[in-house]
Amino acid sequence: MYSVIQKLLFTQDAEWSHDFSINWLRRSQHNLLNNIYKQQIVDKPVEVFGIKFKNPVGLAAGLDKNGECIDAFAAMGFGFIEIGTVTPKPQPGNEKPRMFRLPAGQAIINRMGFNNKGVDNLVENVKKSKYSGVLGINIGKNKDTPEENALEDYLICLNKVYNHASYITVNISSPNTPGLRNLQHGDALDTLLIGLKKQQRVLEKQYKKYVPILVKIAPDLTDEEIVDMSNSLIKAEIDGVIATNTTLDRDLVAGQEFCDQAGGLSGEVLCAKSQAVVSKLCDHIAGRMPVIGVGGIHSGSSAKARIEAGSSLIQVYSSLIYKGPKLIKEIVDFI
Ligand code: FNR
Repeated sequence: MYSVIQKLLFTQDAEWSHDFSINWLRRSQHNLLNNIYKQQIVDKPVEVFGIKFKNPVGLAAGLDKNGECIDAFAAMGFGFIEIGTVTPKPQPGNEKPRMFRLPAGQAIINRMGFNNKGVDNLVENVKKSKYSGVLGINIGKNKDTPEENALEDYLICLNKVYNHASYITVNISSPNTPGLRNLQHGDALDTLLIGLKKQQRVLEKQYKKYVPILVKIAPDLTDEEIVDMSNSLIKAEIDGVIATNTTLDRDLVAGQEFCDQAGGLSGEVLCAKSQAVVSKLCDHIAGRMPVIGVGGIHSGSSAKARIEAGSSLIQVYSSLIYKGPKLIKEIVDFI
């Protein structure tokens, strides 16, 4: 069924297809039409960050930026769902076109730029959903907030989403918000992490529940940068890492149509690069915090390899577009 739908969608512009699909999932998620994508998946329970997951396969951030289709993705059988990236104020994102398919490598290039309807809207959507499983909320900063004030934006989002999330992801690795990736290094990183951890303690007391904070990192870090970053995360007692976001590397798709488009590259072509980052990260972290592996996972075996490299959980985005919901079942059955 999905292959027919996908063929039709792929005749249209990538972002148009995305918006159409999100709208359709939103409208169908609470009626019988959801049988088209609903699937029964065997439980493969895991416990990570003190949270129970019914299986280790999650939806990566960016597909449901506003949390509009949580129940639809739950019906597909995901073990957890991450919504966002959301920013304090709504923002339109970059000029269109800003999303491109590169089918030869089952890849996508995007420079969306955190287009989203703002954190208040996302919280309302979460409240409306019927989902009771594990929900990650991914937070970012508005484009017009100067880099030196980034912490304020993350704190606004943290405060608003804390009571609605199973875990919160701090996105400092999108290549599409100018300067954002600078927050991955040195004093800028330490200041951010210390500020977030301090507020997490306040919120823990206020809501009488501990919500883990994870940091999402880029695949374009050198080995030395991975070690430095891990040291900062460990020192700040961050609860986990998500590796990786999209890459700026274009060698992986050289010569293909759209390969020179600016933005982040994702999909099967990113698999080896993300796998290498996860291996390096897990070697250095040595079990001191859990890692969620994401980037190019496209099959049961690539998911298993990511888990064998040390990830406790994995996420998918691009390959869901290319393969459809059956990918989730394929992975859960295989691992
Ligand atoms: C993303 N990704 C992403 N990540 C994030 O933390 N916040 C976001 O808003 C987005 N937005 C986004 C939009 C689009 C169109 C794509 C393709 C990707 C990155 C995503 O969550 C994931 O980390 C990467 O895409 C790598 O995984 P896949 O796609 O190779 O499975």
